[in-house]
Amino acid sequence: MTTSKEYGLGEFDFPRGWFMIAQSSEVTSDKPMGVRYFGQEFALYRGKDSGKVFLLDAYCPHMGTHLARNSTSYVAQDGAIEGDSIRCPYHAWRFGPDGKCNHIPYSDGPIPPAAKVRAWPVKESMGAVFVWHDPEGGEPEWEVPYLSEWDEPNWVRWTHIDDLGTIDTHPQEIVDNITDAAHFGPVHGSRTKFFENEFKGHLAIQRMAGGHRTLAAEGGPLLVTEAIYNGPSVLITRMSGLYDSYIFIAHTPVENGSSHVWHSLLVKTAKGGAATDEDRAGAKMFSDMALAAFAQDFEVWKHKRPCFNGLFVQGDGAFRKQRLWYKQFYNPRAQKQEFLKQVEGIHVPRGMQAFPKDHKELAAA
Ligand code: FES
Ligand SMILES: [Fe+2]
Repeated sequence: MTTSKEYGLGEFDFPRGWFMIAQSSEVTSDKPMGVRYFGQEFALYRGKDSGKVFLLDAYCPHMGTHLARNSTSYVAQDGAIEGDSIRCPYHAWRFGPDGKCNHIPYSDGPIPPAAKVRAWPVKESMGAVFVWHDPEGGEPEWEVPYLSEWDEPNWVRWTHIDDLGTIDTHPQEIVDNITDAAHFGPVHGSRTKFFENEFKGHLAIQRMAGGHRTLAAEGGPLLVTEAIYNGPSVLITRMSGLYDSYIFIAHTPVENGSSHVWHSLLVKTAKGGAATDEDRAGAKMFSDMALAAFAQDFEVWKHKRPCFNGLFVQGDGAFRKQRLWYKQFYNPRAQKQEFLKQVEGIHVPRGMQAFPKDHKELAAA
């Protein structure tokens, strides 16, 4: 695996930001889930009282037992989740959602203040569970990703997020895709005409329009996409063409150099009313097509060697700017401006046209 240090990303091995760690439907109040991200173990569970999702560091301060990877202890068999708290399977110490031990069943003495584990800020949005990961331990710097269309009846929600598993690819290689103007034709069959990137604070934006071999009809409207990295790991792409839709792609570091990847699609219904069975079938079909397009990128990542310094030529996208933008998340927040002042603004690769301000120009193109 190739590490963040080898890419020269900065001080931290793992970046700051919101990261998807599970689908909401996977996290139940029946039993805790052991999950591994950022090179460490966690216990993820849903409280019985509040219905909220909680994430704690996995190892019990008493003797180091994993709070969530057990099925045979009677604590686990009887149900380790009690209200919003969780019991350790070894000696049944109980921890609250704040990570503090709140009950030791066999000891009358005071609970030592050190009897606690770290509790992480988690939020659910659009059927996914996100954690705010910050090597400096700071408060979230921006809101968790959310689309208001998720709550509109004329959009077909995803009921399932495709879990593409973990690949031995450093997140940098995945994020590179946002600036990769020249791969669209060869990999995805799109005839890109308009292409630009914009970097703005924690956002990296790609606007693109062009024909497409499969996703847009010949002579029909152009496929227009706006892809936005909401921080280092959650990419939401608005796409208009055959259907109006949003592609959701999330990747989260597992070890330093590997990434867990998810994919799903939110699709607007054909007639604008509430979703019909036909809409749902259309959405499913379109989602599968988008997944197939993503699989084209995935296959490249899976087998390529790491790229520390590309042999870039005119016509390649703003890779160097993007990699500088990405460094803001691997360094202390106080240094953020140093990176941003070098990259903020709009960048158009040689040979492409900037995305027109007036979308009518796209229709005429
Ligand atoms: S190791 Fe967790 S209660 Fe003893
Ligand atoms: Fe791609």
